[in-house]
Amino acid sequence: LEMKRIVDILKDDPSMVEITVKGWVRSFRNDRFIAINDGSTIKNLQAVIDPEKIDQAVRDQITVASAVAVTGNLVESEGKGQRVELQANSVEILATADSEEVAKTILSPKRHKLDTLREQAHLRVRTNTFGAVMRVRAALSFAIHKYFQEKGFYQAHTPIITGSDAEGAGEMFRISTLDTKNPPLTEEGEIDYSKDFFGKETNLTVSGQLEAETYAMGLGQVYTFGPTFRAENSNTSRHLAEFWMIEPEVAFNDLDANMDLAEDFIKEVIKYTIEQCADDLEFLEQRLVNEDKLKPQAERSPMPLREKLEFVLKNNFKRVSYTEAIDILKNSKPNKKKKFNYVIEEWGADLQSEHERYLVEKHFKCPVILFDYPAKIKAFYMRLNDDHKTVRAMDILFPGIGEIVGGSQREERYDVLKQKMDDMGIPEEELWWYLEMRKFGSVVHSGFGLGFERLVMFVTGMGNVRDVIPYPRTPGNAEF
Ligand code: 4AD
Ligand code: MG
Repeated sequence: LEMKRIVDILKDDPSMVEITVKGWVRSFRNDRFIAINDGSTIKNLQAVIDPEKIDQAVRDQITVASAVAVTGNLVESEGKGQRVELQANSVEILATADSEEVAKTILSPKRHKLDTLREQAHLRVRTNTFGAVMRVRAALSFAIHKYFQEKGFYQAHTPIITGSDAEGAGEMFRISTLDTKNPPLTEEGEIDYSKDFFGKETNLTVSGQLEAETYAMGLGQVYTFGPTFRAENSNTSRHLAEFWMIEPEVAFNDLDANMDLAEDFIKEVIKYTIEQCADDLEFLEQRLVNEDKLKPQAERSPMPLREKLEFVLKNNFKRVSYTEAIDILKNSKPNKKKKFNYVIEEWGADLQSEHERYLVEKHFKCPVILFDYPAKIKAFYMRLNDDHKTVRAMDILFPGIGEIVGGSQREERYDVLKQKMDDMGIPEEELWWYLEMRKFGSVVHSGFGLGFERLVMFVTGMGNVRDVIPYPRTPGNAEF
């Protein structure tokens, strides 16, 4: 059993059973107190050593980061912050760690900057902050599968390697097995991808949506949960070149049903995670409080982490059309402190993140669902409204995060879709299958994509997307 479960089971009647705990040493004080952690919880277990029972030679090897197996009895603890501690009968050194080497790394027990942790991404999961973030990430991942499975959705495994560009934005990582120095050429002198492994040019998927749509037309309700790739050169705290996306797709759902699903889904997975990860969230909340103390008042978190999460659960997301949002932005006054120093846009312009932040953090002060965007600024597959100007799109905007979900009702009409693809220059030879699907019982359907890392950021309160994924891929960064 892992440490957390042993302690949970035995804490009310601890003393009778002898147990063995295996883990890594977080600290060793006064030649007597070992703080052990095995990754199952943020809370270290204190093992108390009687120097008369444990040889000096063994005690000398109990260093920070070494691995030990401690056998003993759990007893009630007089120390604060813990109900039980382990009275050691024996200590076995499973693996040593040289103190001088440890001192050069983030494993040394002191406060390290997040940037420093990033440079040692192979070790950072052994810190309190990353242990907590990664446990929360895992709980959220489980909650997502649980949510859809319990609602009768089927998971669809859509391809990672694809010949099409689902978003039509041209932000793809090309893949090729051709010899780059000496590629085969066509008569026109261009690289001849027909000689490539797949016999055509392929890339890493930007979204599983188009394939998921074909599956929703057979299985009714499906979802994807997999890695997606964007070759956009955005060096921000919210963009990754490789991120995980959850994309449900539902036959017969219109945009309203899509919004209902997205809101319910986000609330339920947050609720589950609050219940499962109480200790980790308490730690992360305290971490933010400490961080805030070093910041000027204006930059501090408006509410404590768990209060912020509860707030999202309690309140309805505000649903606002793009056109209404533009009116609100036009009537707002630019902030003198330059925090929201946007230029008011005209109808038809894409919203910048400062506009989104203004709507969410200043105007509505709650999560917002914006819908019915101008067709021109959205992807080709979204359903055209009767005004012929807007599409049935929706974006969900979250405080501190901005866009967390992008979704839409899909264009199910063959002729309209074909026209749209022509107008927007989407090659039919690439997406013939997507278009053809509209010929055979094509019905109203909708779906959305949730950026998993953005959700993890929101729930953990971490400020940078690089700190919620084990090995972030960003421009210029694939060290690990
Ligand atoms: O808005 P996006 O591009 O929508 C789609 O890909 C649709 N095919 C989804 C669908 O309808 N099935 O991306 C969806 C979400 C965004 O709202 C954002 O949360 C996240 O994916 N996202 C990113 N997260 C991290 N790094 C990036 N570079 C991201 N790009 C999008
Ligand atoms: Mg989007």
